[in-house]
Amino acid sequence: METEYSIRTEGVCRYFKVGGVETRAVDNVSLQIPARQLVVLRGRSGSGKTTLMNMMGAMDMPTAGKIWMGDEEITAMTDAQRDMFRRKNTGFVFQSVALITMMSAYENVEFALRMANYPKKQRHDRAMEALRMVGLEPRANHMARELSGGEQQRVAVARAIAPKPRFLFADEPTSEQDSATGLQVLKVFQELAKETTVVITTHDEVIASMADCVFAMEDGKLI
Ligand SMILES: Nc1ncnc2c1ncn2[C@@H]1O[C@H](COP(=O)(O)OP(=O)(O)OP(=O)(O)O)[C@@H](O)[C@H]1O
Ligand SMILES: [Mg+2]
Repeated sequence: METEYSIRTEGVCRYFKVGGVETRAVDNVSLQIPARQLVVLRGRSGSGKTTLMNMMGAMDMPTAGKIWMGDEEITAMTDAQRDMFRRKNTGFVFQSVALITMMSAYENVEFALRMANYPKKQRHDRAMEALRMVGLEPRANHMARELSGGEQQRVAVARAIAPKPRFLFADEPTSEQDSATGLQVLKVFQELAKETTVVITTHDEVIASMADCVFAMEDGKLI
């Protein structure tokens, strides 16, 4: 193993102002994500999990505070540097899955590999491997819209993990799964966490209990 890849935040805040009313979605969060552990963010709906995760993954910038991914302070980068860093190093499973509907399951995953400049010769095998990991090899040629909600969510997981990002973020990646399939997806994340920083959000007690490290949020704060 090389560098201890992990994430640190220092006094991170994210405030939104809508119609003159300020929401402190994330309020003064300082944390350290250990390398090679499966990390869970938990908390009630609206507690700030998605907002915090998006900032830790360089998708969104804090109102105040600093964030490091590995040795790099992403809050000190220009927008262009941060976009480049994110594209190169991170994988995301969004809460609203967002597959490309005109592509098949396989094409969605393969496309992500192309975007990540994954070696051309290995793309096919890697895409199929990622689909197999989430139990969807038999659905590889289904168009995204021909898949069930849970299957689409698993394609989104395959798409995020396929390029082997250094940092993987998954926002409620098991919300559409039955408990057995949810556990299968969680096992995939546990396996990845041996080499990668994996952060997921969940409401599911069972999933949270299987994490190596849990951060609980309430009203934008860590508790
Ligand atoms: N772009 C935005 N503009 C204004 N308010 C926002 C925005 N994004 C989030 N919020 C507010 O910030 C708070 C935290 O939202 P967030 O999506 O982080 O919660 P969450 O913990 O992920 O909830 P859930 O479990 O429902 O996904 C909420 O009150 C939400 O309404
Ligand atoms: Mg959320």
